[in-house]
Amino acid sequence: MIGEPRTHVAECESTQLLLGPEDPEGAIATTDHQTAGRGRLGRRWIEAPGTAVIVSVLLRPPAGRRAPELSLVASVAVALALDDATGRSSAQIKWPNDVLLEGRKVAGILAEMKGVAVVLGIGINVNQTAAELPPDTKLEAASLRTLDGVVRDREAVLASLLRRLDCLYTEWRAGGLGALHPELAGRDFLRGRRVGAAETVGVAAGIDELGRLRLETPTGLVHVESGEIVLEA
Ligand code: BTN
Repeated sequence: MIGEPRTHVAECESTQLLLGPEDPEGAIATTDHQTAGRGRLGRRWIEAPGTAVIVSVLLRPPAGRRAPELSLVASVAVALALDDATGRSSAQIKWPNDVLLEGRKVAGILAEMKGVAVVLGIGINVNQTAAELPPDTKLEAASLRTLDGVVRDREAVLASLLRRLDCLYTEWRAGGLGALHPELAGRDFLRGRRVGAAETVGVAAGIDELGRLRLETPTGLVHVESGEIVLEA
């Protein structure tokens, strides 16, 4: 069961550091504030104290399974949890691990290997005011509060996230991305947009059943496994 045992601290450098291979699968670490929150690609993840859902989860995917798929499993879980919170069905996934509402980034996911275990870190902007959001992000940031003015119980958002993740992770363990794929495809923010991935520029043409981003380029179809996707003009 994802969510047990739970370690909660008022403040830490990063919840990613509070879990290790010795912890049981499903263990989580939460905090009210990180002093050195980690984002993808060496970036920082910054949140004002007491405003966000900050959680790391220890998972042990079966041997031979593609761990990067876990970011997509988490993205779908976060999107569903955001919809639970807003009562709408509008959260989108910017492959592979940003979750957006109204085109703005509300949540991010970071998957880090620790031996054979994976520590999945999730940050959701819940109650930040506009002034509390980081100004210079590649993708404009938002919180649930800046989008609809509602201040929410962060524990309720966390509970919904853990319930969604537990269910989707069980499905993924049993059968890979197949069962999740329709939900993933339906929430694909990049589809039809012109994007860049490393040296390649093309039009995003969906996420395949292995979780790779399909790019239509002038020289043919390319499958992107990982990395940063930049929106092109
Ligand atoms: C990203 O968008 O670049 C990923 C952000 C991941 C942030 C979460 S918050 C919980 C966990 N602890 C961290 O230091 N990072 C992740």
